[in-house]
Amino acid sequence: MEALQYSAIRKVKEIVGRIKGMDISGYKDDFVARRIRARIIALGLETLGEYIRYLQRNPSEADKLLDSLSINVSEFFRDPWVWDVLKDIFKRIIAEKKIKVLRIWSAGCSKGEEPYSISILLHEILGKRISEYSITIYATDIDRDALRSAEKGIYNISSLRNLSKSLLEKYFIKIGPATYMVKPEVKKLVKFKRHDMIKDPPFMFMDAIFCRNVLIYFSRDLQEKVLRKFHMALRTGGILILGASEYAFGDALKMFKPLNTRARIFMKI
Ligand SMILES: C[S@@+](CC[C@H](N)C(=O)[O-])C[C@H]1O[C@@H](n2cnc3c(N)ncnc32)[C@H](O)[C@@H]1O
Repeated sequence: MEALQYSAIRKVKEIVGRIKGMDISGYKDDFVARRIRARIIALGLETLGEYIRYLQRNPSEADKLLDSLSINVSEFFRDPWVWDVLKDIFKRIIAEKKIKVLRIWSAGCSKGEEPYSISILLHEILGKRISEYSITIYATDIDRDALRSAEKGIYNISSLRNLSKSLLEKYFIKIGPATYMVKPEVKKLVKFKRHDMIKDPPFMFMDAIFCRNVLIYFSRDLQEKVLRKFHMALRTGGILILGASEYAFGDALKMFKPLNTRARIFMKI
């Protein structure tokens, strides 16, 4: 891509950022460029200049571009085998706890699929003993619409495909032919909040941080900055869970020890 195009892409990022009130400047240029190209074709336009003018006149295009970045794509128990590994790790964390308090952060929680999966996992591990624990799952995202949807806790069956029939019946209420709502006990552990992991100060004293399939959109510098923040937010021995195609690198490797490399689970050292 030419230098000129990069500056036009930055301009698109700036406009989208202004319309949506979110900073997407650290998103990888090549990644954003591919999505813009797809939008240009879909709209029957020809040049980036035309697209910028279109975006300025049609602010709703910002939503379409963000959607096409598929940055809200998620599902319950994404990469199910990772959650099998996590079940054993959480059992150990819980067994080692002297005080029955658990603090977990789902950063980039999208429409709630991830934090509710964590809540279900903890219910499965603890059973009735869950009432003895003080558990908070902080679920944050930059996207207010995603958070509004997350708070409702209503999902199409397609995002629940990784759940067995028994888990579906245990933790969800069927409210339509293909629509389910999470039960109140699952919701109870989760606190949703708007938070920009790049700009805002981190939550602290975390036992675990999930940040899956978010860093992939960020430049390397930004990834390192966010990983440093997560290091600060975790207690010693706390764990960090990244997405299947993400990895801790650079300085971050000195701060975290891989617990399960394939599952992208790291421990703060
Ligand atoms: C692909 S989804 C990942 C959802 C879930 N973690 C998963 O793995 O299925 C990425 C989410 O990150 C959010 N996000 C992107 N940039 C963010 C930022 N700077 N701060 C907080 N959330 C962000 C997006 O709004 C989106 O909901």
